[in-house]
Parts: sequence; C-alpha cells; structure tokens
Amino acid sequence: MEAGLPLPSSSLSQLILTQDDLKKIAAYKAVEYIESGMVLGLGTGSTAKHAVDRIGKLLRQGKLKDIVGIPTSKKTHEQALSLGIPLSDLDSHPVVDLAIDGADEVDPYLNLVKGRGGSLLREKMVEGACKKFVVIVDESKLVNYIGGSGLAMPVEVIQFCWKFTASRLQNLFQESGCVAKLRTLGEKAEPYVTDNGNYIIDLYFKQSIGDLKAASDSILQIAGVVEHGMFIDMATTVIVAGELGLIVKNK
Ligand code: 5RP
Repeated sequence: MEAGLPLPSSSLSQLILTQDDLKKIAAYKAVEYIESGMVLGLGTGSTAKHAVDRIGKLLRQGKLKDIVGIPTSKKTHEQALSLGIPLSDLDSHPVVDLAIDGADEVDPYLNLVKGRGGSLLREKMVEGACKKFVVIVDESKLVNYIGGSGLAMPVEVIQFCWKFTASRLQNLFQESGCVAKLRTLGEKAEPYVTDNGNYIIDLYFKQSIGDLKAASDSILQIAGVVEHGMFIDMATTVIVAGELGLIVKNK
C-alpha cells in the first residue's frame, strides 16, 4: 500500500495488506484522537513510529498546533526531533493528555504485554501518567491470556547479579512452566542494555500465570527488578487493524 491516509475500514478486505500496512492504519486512526494543545506520550516500536511520523506531518501542515511530545525511548526521541516535534519530559509536564503506543500482546480485557522493543520502563512511566492511553496493534497481537503468544514477557533488571534475579523470576512462575532468559544481541550474544543502562530478562510461559495483579506484585517485590512489561488496566482504547477492518475497543 502507498503511504498516505488510512483507508475506510470497509475497503480493507478488498486489498492485500502487509502487516506494516495494518500497523500504519491503526496508527493513523489513533492520531485522529489528538487535538491541538495536547501533551502527548510518544510510543516506541514499528507501529508507534507511524503515529509519530503522522504527528510530524500534521504539525508541518499546520493541521495540529502547540503539541508537546514526551518520547518513551531514545529512539523515539531521535525520530521526533528529526520531525521537528517539540519535546518535553514528565518533570516539566507531569500530566500527559494522550499517549499512543504499540503492544506485543493484548488480552480480551485490554491488558498488555509491552517491551519486546526494550522500552517498557519509560513507556510505563509516560503511559502511567496519561489521561488517555490509545494502543495500536495489528490483529496478530491479540491473545486469549497474557503470555499466550508463547513469546517473551520482558522484565527490566539491574545488571548486578542478574543471574540471581533471573532464577528468582523463573522460580516464581514454576507452575506456569516459566523459562527466564537474558536478552542478548548479535552473534556474540552480548547482553541487550536498555536506555536506562539495565538488562532485560525475557520470561516465557507454557501456560497462563493466572492473577495478573498478584503476578505483578510478586515480580516487583524481587530486589533487582526495575519494572515488568505487563501493563494491567492501563489502556483506555485499543485500535486493532485486521484484514476485515478496524476494531476500536474501549475500556
Ligand atoms: C517497545 C514496545 C512496543 O510497543 C512493542 O514491542 C510493539 O512493537 P511493534 O509495534 O514494533 O510491534 O513495547 O518497548
């Protein structure tokens, strides 16, 4: 699909759309929620990138005015700067009107897994401070339960004795068949280091971890854990783009 405005939802089924097209359609829809004068949380990842590009374009065209963006990662900071989006932070703007971000998993109650892109801590800080949090995904991100994709649920940990922290995390979810792995990069398998100088332990579950709030509390009680990638009860709207069209789910 050519870059441009998203298609009306009734047209989606008549075209062959790539996953990236679906991400862009969801992102453009979310940008419609933005009004001039808003303080915006700018998400991270390949879906959020489309939203940030679109915001930059609308600013340049004068269709949006007086926007202030708070990026959720160094990468998004760079992208927003290059687009001329005025930037700030939570110290100066502790209340965020609207945040738009992608997700790795969305359950039927709009709970999320985030952070496979590594930015979960700043995302949770910014999105936890916003009045409205619009999540943008293609339909591949929908799961029956958190952890249900079989892919990683990230936990940001300090570098000091990370193996000890990883084994405590794995033991916590033994009954769910949890395997904890340090996230690494490249052929040399160097540890992945977050924007905050920490490591990420990815947790893989064989079955549901049950009560998410209880799981969250247990993870956060482990000294050495900084934050986890479960975003429980935080999304106010989830926009899902699929082959059959757009679905907007509100809390
Ligand atoms: C980054 C994130 C992303 O929002 C999440 O990984 C989704 O990414 P993408 O839009 O590329 O699928 O949480 O930390």
